[in-house]
Parts: sequence; C-alpha cells; structure tokens
Amino acid sequence: MILSIESSCDDSSLAITKIETRELIYHKKISQELEHSKYGGVVPELAARLHVEALPRILEECKEYFPQLKAIAVTNAPGLAVTLMEGVMMAKALSLALDIPLIAVNHLKGHIYSLFIEKETILPMSILLVSGGHTQIIEAKSLKEMEILASTMDDSFGESFDKVSKMLGMGYPGGPVVQEYALKGDSTRFVFPIPLKQSPKIAFSYSGLKNAVRLAIEKIDITNEQDKADICACFQKTAVDHIMQKVKKLFKNKAPKDFAIVGGASANIYLREQLETLCASHKTTLHLSQLKYCSDNAAMIGRVAIEQYKINDFVSIEEIDIQSRVKDFS
Ligand code: KG4
Ligand code: ZN
Repeated sequence: MILSIESSCDDSSLAITKIETRELIYHKKISQELEHSKYGGVVPELAARLHVEALPRILEECKEYFPQLKAIAVTNAPGLAVTLMEGVMMAKALSLALDIPLIAVNHLKGHIYSLFIEKETILPMSILLVSGGHTQIIEAKSLKEMEILASTMDDSFGESFDKVSKMLGMGYPGGPVVQEYALKGDSTRFVFPIPLKQSPKIAFSYSGLKNAVRLAIEKIDITNEQDKADICACFQKTAVDHIMQKVKKLFKNKAPKDFAIVGGASANIYLREQLETLCASHKTTLHLSQLKYCSDNAAMIGRVAIEQYKINDFVSIEEIDIQSRVKDFS
C-alpha cells in the first residue's frame, strides 16, 4: 500500500491505495473553501496554517495501515510553496519514521491519473486540463512522456470563474456558483469577445474576457439576481466557446482516438456537454474523471504513485524539492 498526501492549494487530503490492485482503501479530504470564501480566493498563509491542523488529524485515521505501507507519496509541484511545504514535511517525517521510500508526484499528472483511479491506465490520450491554476492541452503518451501542446498566456479557465464570482460578490470557489447562476441567465444579453478568435495559434487567454466582464458589471450597476445570472451566462458561454474553438482546431489537424478533460473545472457541465458533442461527431472516445475526483485530492496522487513505485521512481529525503511552478512535467 502507498500513503499519498496532497496539499498543493486549499485541500488537505490523504489516501491509501493498494499497489497490486489499485484499490482505494482510504481517502479523506478536508476542504478550506469556507475559510477562504470571505477573501474571494485562496490566502496562502491561511491555507498553510489550516493544513497544519488538518493533515495530522487525517493521518490519525490512517495509523492502522502503517505496518502495510510500502511508500509515501506527496505532491511536490506545482502549487503554493507554503502549502506544498506542509505535505512534503509530513511525507519526509513518515518516510524516515517508517523507513520506507518517498515518491514525489507532480500535481498535474495527478489530475491526469484521476481518470484511472481504481482502473487501468489508458494512454496515449489527448487531455484538456482545466483547473484554478492551469488551462492546458497535453499529449500524454506515457507516465514519463507528456507534452504540453497548448497553455494559457495569462489567467486560467477556473481562475476566471473565481474572479467573476468575486466581482459579483458570490464567494469562492467561483466555478460551481457561476455555473448555477448561468443556468437562469440569458446568454445573449451581453456580447463578450471570444479571446484569440482571429489567432491561428492554439493557446488560451482569459485576462481580456475578465476585463470585459468587469466593464459590463460597472456599466449596468448590478441591482438584482437576474443581472448576475445574465452576466454569468454570457461569461460562461464565452469562456467555454474559447476553449471549444481551440479544441476544434486541434481536432481539425487530427482528431484523437481518446480525449479527456481533467482538473477541478472539468466539472463544468456546459463544457462537458460541448465536448461530448464534438467528440461524438469525430468518433473520439471522451474520458471523464468521476466528479468526486475532479478537484484536488490525494487519491489521484496515489494513483500516479503506483506507476512510479513500479519503476522505482523514488526520491531521497534530502533531494525532494518544492517547485511552485513547472514548465513541463515529463
Ligand atoms: O483542480 P482544482 O481543484 O484546483 C487546482 O488545481 O487549481 O480546481 C479548482 C478550480 C477553481 O478555480 C474552481 O472555481 C474551478 O476549478 N471549478 C469550476 C467548476 N467547479 C470547480 N470552474 C467552472 N465550472 C465548474 N463547475
Ligand atoms: Zn488541481
């Protein structure tokens, strides 16, 4: 069994996974959304302090499995340095105390392997990763061969939902609440320009859209719930249209046999529906993570760790480093 730890942002999570069968024996996550909501986004120092309380509390429940553990896995990149640190410190202490190896896991690989929790790996695959920190298209050939085909030039998809929610005073995280409001809104009331529409490049950008939404909010001086719903509907439509336009470009070059959406924002229903239609028309199989594994969690870290364990991809206590940003992850 492997014990895995995730603390790259505002979720404290631990999981225990069986190496041979991939079975998830234990999984718990304590979210800090409520604590950060009043600030309209994650406050790194507060997040780190909350991890200090939550991680040992969860670990207490895992003690009975300690004699069966073969390795400790932990997210070491990318994420918030101060919160990654908490998980890595716990992992080092456990590795030392139990005298078992340490596995450093890339968080983005974790999101990709969330597709394979308690399942077999299906690779190669083209993957759209949409989270609070990333918007990327990745060509995932194998555990060690992952190429970033496209990424965002500024903000990410999920982050733009968080910002719009903050502008409308609707709290954090913005994705679920903006999606909910959008359902009741008129998606034709405001016309926001689709980012990079004229550009032949497959890349993403959300800062311009964010500003367009800000200007619209200032102009109409929002007074009622319908105004909010209309803003959310128009924003969500444009944010998703932007992704779809670029994914269609990719499919036009060569439609993949297998395509997946992963990351916290892959829970977005409108995005899922649009991609389902596109994939169906190209006879591409669309793979989705279970909703409970879309946002950050330690089960996905444990799932990657099984693959790393099999190839002895360990790191020493002295060598494990924390990288808040990474350019690539192959
Ligand atoms: O993957 P994740 O849990 O954390 C990061 O690694 O960033 O993703 C969290 C992000 C937040 O920005 C949140 O607002 C967004 O995912 N999100 C959504 C939805 N649910 C969560 N964005 C759009 N629509 C949703 N339904
Ligand atoms: Zn994430």
